[in-house]
Amino acid sequence: MEIDLISPEYFAAHGHPWEQYAWLRENAPVFWHHEPAESGPGFWALTKYEDIRAVSRTPKLFSSFEKGVMIPDPDEGNLFAQRQMMLNMDPPQHDRFKLLVSRGFTPKNAPLLRPRIEELAREIVDSVIEKGHCDFVSEIAGRLPSGLIAELMGMPRADGERLYDLTEIMHTNDDAIAPPEVKMAAIGEMLGYAQSVADFKRQNPADDLATVLVNAEVDGDRLTDAEFQWFFLLLVNAGGDTTRNLLAAGLQLLFDNPDQRQMLLADVDGRLGTAIEEMLRFSSPVSHFKRTVMEDTVIRGQKIAAGDRVVMFYGSANRDEEIFERPDEFDILRDPNPHVAFGAGGPHLCLGMHVARVELAVMFRELLTRLPHMEPGGPVERMHSSFIAGVHAMPVRY
Ligand code: HEM
Repeated sequence: MEIDLISPEYFAAHGHPWEQYAWLRENAPVFWHHEPAESGPGFWALTKYEDIRAVSRTPKLFSSFEKGVMIPDPDEGNLFAQRQMMLNMDPPQHDRFKLLVSRGFTPKNAPLLRPRIEELAREIVDSVIEKGHCDFVSEIAGRLPSGLIAELMGMPRADGERLYDLTEIMHTNDDAIAPPEVKMAAIGEMLGYAQSVADFKRQNPADDLATVLVNAEVDGDRLTDAEFQWFFLLLVNAGGDTTRNLLAAGLQLLFDNPDQRQMLLADVDGRLGTAIEEMLRFSSPVSHFKRTVMEDTVIRGQKIAAGDRVVMFYGSANRDEEIFERPDEFDILRDPNPHVAFGAGGPHLCLGMHVARVELAVMFRELLTRLPHMEPGGPVERMHSSFIAGVHAMPVRY
């Protein structure tokens, strides 16, 4: 079988390469994957759940810092900048950073946001309900995470939407749509905005995450301005189109599986929790992350040399037949559901997952109770990205 797990064209046309994942799990679970010369020398594609779990939990051997976590490898200048983000740090540097930022992201904190998220979701649905049709992605799904980040940071909601547009530019890996200089400008605009938020919150402290972050102190240690800027960029990026895409993919799954949708509608409160976990497993909005191997090692009998890169394909782990019964079946009652859509454990496990779960539950509840008869309204346009498996436009009627 011809293997290419990182083709933006493939993702734009079909979404995740599920058949290739299945073939690799069966025939070559540690597979040497070619990549364009300008991107890197090739990498080991990992497609089995247990391997991905082990790599995620062994940061000493599998580094996020060495060459970052994205494909392609960044050049020296970009690597230096990216290492300001916790996503590209290793312990102990990562431990220190996590200690400083995690206060706003505990499992206890997330439910406290619920009333604000409910208000936001209600306003979003109010704004489109009379029309009878809309683009689900830009008019509903995308507005929730950007509104929430604005809310969390204590900034005007319209600013959140601009920042959200900027992340779209950063995540597109089609040079025709977003050439490098356009991407750089988007990053620059976001970092500059973050600095203005930090300056403002220092002068005008309020009850919001930005104020917590600019003042957070552990043993006399604080975030520098650059660290705050990059953490802000990471939050907007990591929390934006992931959540948006899960909402769109989840709705599409309900359209495609009318029996499951009926079952959910019959008991929204009782079944929404497991339904959301199954949407996460089934659609895996983040398709992969990379690590760099720090010492010669062996995975499933395959020798891997120090300096090689391994890439974890979460969508494949989430369909691993050794872990999940009937892995290709969308089953909203699946329980337990140990999916790895938020990462496979270890230090980098998604910081925002508790917030994301509240967001997803609130919005689906709103949709299922107020617009229970929503249906597809035209062809879906997928994102041109192999990193975020997502949807760019999704017309709906109701
Ligand atoms: C459906 C929604 C989401 C998905 C699928 C998702 C997925 C992920 C994944 C796969 C990782 C990397 C895990 C690893 O390397 O082990 C990650 C990290 C991260 N996520 Fe999320 N995420 C979502 C929502 C959010 C939200 C709403 C926020 C913030 C408000 C957020 C903030 C972060 C941050 C800051 C990191 C880096 C953590 C670290 O490096 O220690 N995410 N996420």
